[in-house]
Amino acid sequence: MLPAEALELLACPRCTGPLSAGLSCAPCRRRYEAPDGIPDLRIASEGRTEAVRAFYTAAPFPGYPPHDSLWALRARAGRSDFARALDEAIPGDARVLELGCGTGQMSLFLASADRLVLGADLTRASLVLAVRHARSFQVNAHFVETDLRRPGVLPGAFDVVIASGVLHHTEDPRASFAAMARLVRPGGVVVLGLYHAFARLPHRLRRAIARATGYRFIPFDPVLRDRGAEPDRRAAWLRDQYQHVEEHRHTLSEVRGWFRENGVDYLRAFPSTLLDEEPPRGGALFTAAADDWPLENLLAQCRWAAALGREGGLFVTVGRRRA
Ligand SMILES: C[S@@+](CC[C@H](N)C(=O)[O-])C[C@H]1O[C@@H](n2cnc3c(N)ncnc32)[C@H](O)[C@@H]1O
Repeated sequence: MLPAEALELLACPRCTGPLSAGLSCAPCRRRYEAPDGIPDLRIASEGRTEAVRAFYTAAPFPGYPPHDSLWALRARAGRSDFARALDEAIPGDARVLELGCGTGQMSLFLASADRLVLGADLTRASLVLAVRHARSFQVNAHFVETDLRRPGVLPGAFDVVIASGVLHHTEDPRASFAAMARLVRPGGVVVLGLYHAFARLPHRLRRAIARATGYRFIPFDPVLRDRGAEPDRRAAWLRDQYQHVEEHRHTLSEVRGWFRENGVDYLRAFPSTLLDEEPPRGGALFTAAADDWPLENLLAQCRWAAALGREGGLFVTVGRRRA
């Protein structure tokens, strides 16, 4: 079961009332279970959400390499400019929520210092792997099963809310963002990673060729090549990137519209929309970009098709909820 400081951040997914230590909701009198120590605060899903849940239940994403260690996990994250910038920007005592945490790698990476990190996902099979690795790596991260559209966490309770590679797999990403934005406290930060409409094009071309050849020929996929010796993680990538049941793509201006609708001020994108900017260091990820010019933003997004196309075309938008 979760420690008291993490339990305090949970809520009834039906009425958003606070939960007792036994996972009972006083306002609506519902009681929830926590099989394997993972609170089940998911309202039964149906339709396309259930199809997505079944999809990830069959192949939890991204999965762990065999014989993984905390050292290796941190080394992998440390090679990512984005993961480093995120870690440097989050204060050491922040309450962090990762929505759609999958098998939990980012949550485990960020759970250092006095941070309280809660990973939430629709798919129990992924969370079981996350908890198993948190225990064996002795990392203090906590996990909960819940649907981000009806989340079992307290609104306005988190300093940072992250969802990377998740909302574009929900039926209505715009409505999903509205649900996400409610969870961050006024003055807190949202970090949203989505497939980009232009940067996804190279992958879609690759996917069309893969499908046309019955997956016998999949050209230029560096991730599949790197995972040649790891059949499970290779299969998870193949399913996630080539056979997904729900996928949307977005542009920066569309996401900025969602931010405006939900009282979130745009800070910056990652990669940067400035043509000559280095990756943000020392906390700069949570500060406003030096410039914000529509023409430069558009040019940068065209450039992302080449820069991000190799690995699926994910871009990140960062914003701060108005106080
Ligand atoms: C592509 S994986 C990304 C996992 C992780 N964020 C990462 O970047 O490695 C998408 C994850 O989103 C979760 N997900 C999809 N729809 C969700 C929803 N409505 N509520 C919570 N999680 C959801 C899936 O179960 C899956 O684990």
